[in-house]
Amino acid sequence: MPGTELFGEEERKEVMDVLHTGVLFRYNHDDLRQGHWKAREFEAELARFNGVKYAHTCTSGSTAVAIAMACCGIGAGDEVIVPPFTYIATVEGALLGGALPVFAEIDETLCLSPEGIRAAITPKTKAVVLVHMCGSMARLDEILEICREFKLLLIEDTAQALGATYKGKAVGSFAPMGCFLLIF
Ligand SMILES: Cc1ncc(COP(=O)(O)O)c(C=O)c1O
Repeated sequence: MPGTELFGEEERKEVMDVLHTGVLFRYNHDDLRQGHWKAREFEAELARFNGVKYAHTCTSGSTAVAIAMACCGIGAGDEVIVPPFTYIATVEGALLGGALPVFAEIDETLCLSPEGIRAAITPKTKAVVLVHMCGSMARLDEILEICREFKLLLIEDTAQALGATYKGKAVGSFAPMGCFLLIF
């Protein structure tokens, strides 16, 4: 939110390093970039931080959710279970691909509840988008179990929970794909 971001000299220097090269692309232009590969270095660091194999940057949290849906092959005719307490991007991600978002109940974790997910499953359900709302952690063990039982894809919208862990493991690393929101 404007006014609440924390950045200082270190962050300004990182940005200026890139601006001085004149290269805003993440690929190529090796001769101009003065050794700066910020996106690549950041992705490696983020993957290490979250204990996952890969991290890939994109333009926004909304794009990350839409890309994750597309990568999972979610589209027309599919239903995607989403929480009603979230940011609109979670729902838009499903709509953009032509899928139908289906709202399910949340619980005291502020995230989708296992009971809510079970009640919302139909033969058309293809995926669950779990949002770790306000840095809170969903009841992941039970939700993973449901996804296994019904062969549902799980996408973690972790835009609000970078650094949060569940039983010592980073949220966003339980599903094949976690989507983070990081503002530069
Ligand atoms: C849960 C959640 N998902 C996705 C997004 C979308 O991120 P962006 O604003 O970068 O598109 C947000 C943004 O606040 C969010 O809170």
